Amino acid sequence: MRVRKAVIPAAGLGTRMLPITKSMPKEMLPVVDRPVIHYVVEEAIRAGIDDILIITGKGKRAIEDYFDRSFELEYYLRERGKVDKLKQVEEIGEMVDIYYVRQKKPLGLGDAILHAEKHVNGEPFAVLLGDDIVINNKPAVKQLMEIFERFNAPVLGVERVAWDDVSKYGIVYGTKIRGSLYEVRDLIEKPPREKAPSNVAIVGRYVLTPEVFDALRNVKPDKNGEIQLTDALRSLVKEGTKMLAREVEGKRYDVGTKVGFIRANIEIALAREELRKEIISTMEKVIQEIKHG
Ligand code: UTP
Repeated sequence: MRVRKAVIPAAGLGTRMLPITKSMPKEMLPVVDRPVIHYVVEEAIRAGIDDILIITGKGKRAIEDYFDRSFELEYYLRERGKVDKLKQVEEIGEMVDIYYVRQKKPLGLGDAILHAEKHVNGEPFAVLLGDDIVINNKPAVKQLMEIFERFNAPVLGVERVAWDDVSKYGIVYGTKIRGSLYEVRDLIEKPPREKAPSNVAIVGRYVLTPEVFDALRNVKPDKNGEIQLTDALRSLVKEGTKMLAREVEGKRYDVGTKVGFIRANIEIALAREELRKEIISTMEKVIQEIKHG
């Protein structure tokens, strides 16, 4: 079955990025000149998704306005003959069908996904976390969709992380099928290093099937009162659901952390032809100044 729909959870509190996230969702933070969520929506569209549901919380207006047409701005740019900028702005307003549902309380990623049940309407669906950017020629989510379409089983995007970092991720224990593909045997959310069964971490891209909704309803909240998606996936595996994990190809930025956010800005700016030279000379100047006081 083809995956047509994508769900982008963007309702978290973003406490690691406080204080900016006090009044702005982290998904709207700028990476060079567009918000993080623009890159995520673009990835879904490039993968062939034509229906996107964004789970919003506070700051819903900023996200909706961004993807909406802005007739005032378009008029202003047209009047002044700013054709390139006009085209850019119009394109965002026409990207794809985007729907919104609001998660009233930030009760965890699992709870956010539960809000997609009606919209998904019994179909398999992709999930792209709104604060993870993956840059690759073949979109990361497309890599998972191809596996899903072949094996007809849920697929988790994974990456090997440093052992010191396993406690920041959902960790997968799997058996290798071939190359970068694993069958998932167990999962554990944010284990301490000594309890982690591997360093294969879930990285914010999934293809899921509607069975996940019942599993989410049956999951007990964690110690912070949040419903964890990893716990629901674990219960599915334990009940015998076949689940796969694929190592995602691409450069990933966790924009929900300060260092990840700054790195994304530097590297994505460097990849832009018109900015590259000036950014490099600015960085060289900064480093010289650090060295020479
Ligand atoms: P995170 O695990 O990064 O949590 O969410 P967070 O609360 O947003 O951020 P911190 O840890 O406080 O800094 C992963 C993804 O799930 C969404 C977030 O918006 C992000 O895209 N999410 C998380 C929700 O939509 N709802 C929630 O209740 C929690």
